[in-house]
Amino acid sequence: MKEYIDRLKEEHTLTREGFETLLSRRDADTHAYALEQAVKIRQQIYGRDIYIRGLVEVSSYCKNNCYYCGIRSGNKKASRYRLTPDEILDCCREGYQLGFRTFVLQGGEDAWYTDEILTAVIQDIKKDFPDCAVTLSLGERSKESYRRLYAAGADRYLLRHETATEEHYRKLHPPNLSLTDRKTCLKDLKEAGYQVGAGFMVGSPGQTYAHLAEDLLFLRKLSPHMVGIGPFLSHQDTPFAHEPNGDLDLTLFLLALIRLMLPKVLLPSTTALGTLHPEGRKLGILAGCNVVMPNLSPSGVREKYLLYDNKIATGLEAAESIDLLKKQMEEIGYKIVCARGDYPAS
Ligand code: 5AD
Repeated sequence: MKEYIDRLKEEHTLTREGFETLLSRRDADTHAYALEQAVKIRQQIYGRDIYIRGLVEVSSYCKNNCYYCGIRSGNKKASRYRLTPDEILDCCREGYQLGFRTFVLQGGEDAWYTDEILTAVIQDIKKDFPDCAVTLSLGERSKESYRRLYAAGADRYLLRHETATEEHYRKLHPPNLSLTDRKTCLKDLKEAGYQVGAGFMVGSPGQTYAHLAEDLLFLRKLSPHMVGIGPFLSHQDTPFAHEPNGDLDLTLFLLALIRLMLPKVLLPSTTALGTLHPEGRKLGILAGCNVVMPNLSPSGVREKYLLYDNKIATGLEAAESIDLLKKQMEEIGYKIVCARGDYPAS
C-alpha cells in the first residue's frame, strides 16, 4: 500500500482503481505512513503555521431541503435567525481584535441576502479591515452574483461539491438540486477570480469507497485552493436521523491523501471533526490540516446554526477562546498565526 501513497505524492497519477484499493485495503501501517508523509509536505510548505478563520454564521434560513442537513427547509423544528449587516460587522470587529484576518460569512441559501445587501456588507468589512480577507460560503448563486460579490471585494468562496457521483448526489439531495449545477457554480467561481474551496462529507449515507475515489479524482482535476471535508454527523430532525456518523480514522486518512495530492491546499480541521472526537481538531492537524475556523457568531445564535447534532460551539470552538486554541496547538508543536493566510503563489 505504501507504494500507492508514494505514487500519489510523487507523480499524482493514482487512478480511480488505485484510490479505491488504497481506501478499502488500508491498514494501520498505511494509515500511519500517509499521515506522516502528509505532515512532512505541509511542513515544507507552511512550516508550523496554522491559519485561523473567524466563522460568522449569518443565517439559518435555507431554501434547500438537503436530506443530511439540520437547517433544511423541511425541518420545522429548526430555530431560524439571520444577522443584520451591522451584526455581521460587529462580529468582524470582535474577530479583528482577537487576531483574525479572514472572516468567513457562511449561511443557508437565504434570499434575504440579495447582491445589494451583500455587496454593501463586503465593502464595509473591506473598508474597516483592509488587511483582512473575506470568504463567502452562501451556496449556489448566479454567475453574475458571484461576479458582483467578487467585485465588491470578496476574496474566497467555499462551496462543497458534497459528492462527485451523480447517483450518490441524488441520494443526498432533493430532485431540484443537481450535481451539474454545483459543478457549474464551482467553475463560475473560479472564472470570477475567487480562491475556491470544494469538499465533501465522509461517511454520508450510501457512500462507498468508489464514491470517495471519485471525490478525490474530482478534487485533483478541479485543483481548488481550499478543501473542506469532515465526517457526516446525523441530525435528529432529518431523514438521516438514524444513519451512523462518519468514521474518524477514514476522515483523517482522507485529509492526509488530500494534502499529498494537493500539497499547497488550505485544509481546515473542521468543526465536524472536533464534534466527532474531543481531540478531533488536533488529530486533523496531525493528518496534514493547516487551518482552523473558530466560531465568531454572536453567542445567542450559535445553538441555532445546527447542521448536525451536538455541534460544539463553546470551549476551543469559540473564537473568544483563541488563547486556549493557541495553547493546544503549541502542545503539539504548531503556531497559530495572525495573517490572511492566502493560497501561496506558485
Ligand atoms: N454532517 C456533517 N456535515 C454537514 N454539512 C451539512 N450537514 C451536515 C451533517 N449532517 C456540511 C455540508 C455543507 C457544510 C456547510 O456543512 O458539507 O457543505
